[in-house]
Amino acid sequence: MRPSQAPFPATRLRRLRATPALRALVQETTLSPADFIWPVFVRDGEGQVEPIASMPGVNRLSVDKVVEAARDAHGLGIPAICLFPYTDPALKTADCAEAWNPENLSNRATRAIKDAVPDIAIMTDVALDPYNIDGHDGFVEDGAVVNDRTVEALVRQTLSQARAGADIIGPSDMMDGRIGAMRAGLEGEGFHDVTILSYAAKYASAFYGPFRDAVGASGALKGDKKTYQMNPGNSDEAMRLIERDLSEGADMIMVKPGMPYLDICRRARDMFGAPTFAYQVSGEYAMITGAAERGWIDGEKTMMESLQGFKRAGCDGVLTYFAPAAARLLNG
Ligand code: PBG
Repeated sequence: MRPSQAPFPATRLRRLRATPALRALVQETTLSPADFIWPVFVRDGEGQVEPIASMPGVNRLSVDKVVEAARDAHGLGIPAICLFPYTDPALKTADCAEAWNPENLSNRATRAIKDAVPDIAIMTDVALDPYNIDGHDGFVEDGAVVNDRTVEALVRQTLSQARAGADIIGPSDMMDGRIGAMRAGLEGEGFHDVTILSYAAKYASAFYGPFRDAVGASGALKGDKKTYQMNPGNSDEAMRLIERDLSEGADMIMVKPGMPYLDICRRARDMFGAPTFAYQVSGEYAMITGAAERGWIDGEKTMMESLQGFKRAGCDGVLTYFAPAAARLLNG
């Protein structure tokens, strides 16, 4: 027992849990819509809202619908939206050139949102997997995902996103040296204020399954991503990766997935004090919504409890598919 606590019955910890008012008064961490970054899936066409079977309640949206989503999010007090394109399989190539096409889906959506909802921050995804015939985040040569040639392509992709108006660049590829190269590229073109939220500690996880369906990468992926994404058994390595990415010019860092890695979030926050985010990934979302649909758990309550956990673990914010639903609840 700590010296500041008198022995029972002078100390009865239940006193502070006795009423809603007292519980609210001593709550240590709170959730707000400003804590959320909302990931959305973009598809081509117009007026399209296409459900994703493994993510109940999440849709692939055409650009006009993404603009509506951004407007709703802004109205709810959500500060940022994150774009993931569902790329036409015919546009997937070995050289991944669609990744830096100024007219690709991600860039078109970015410009359209910037025009219509200029105050919401736009985060974009840097990685080659939506554009790669192999489904990998980097170029594959002789069966191996090569690092340095991939980094050059990621810089091109970064610059095309910055030119389209992205505010937050989100490299999710886990190549070495990419943050420094991207930062140099951005500074070189005068994008001094474009921020980088590095997926610094991204684990090779089975929780990404529904996402790969959502962006149409499941069928394409050959093998696994274990030579670049982290081993789930490691924690010290995550600290080395985060330190490295901050030293190369990342403004914010992310731990991914979220719920099975809350220890990593806490450690990162305590060790570096940099803005720290967790990605509550597609599989986490599917577990909660799937169980709720069957009536096995209360969907709203588990959603809020799962999000609260990220704040308690030290995160400044969460990328979550629940963002609009949770914001609506928080706004009453
Ligand atoms: C790929 C990428 C993935 C996610 C975000 N970017 C999947 C992967 O690494 O295979 C996963 C997000 C989620 O599961 O919600 N660059």
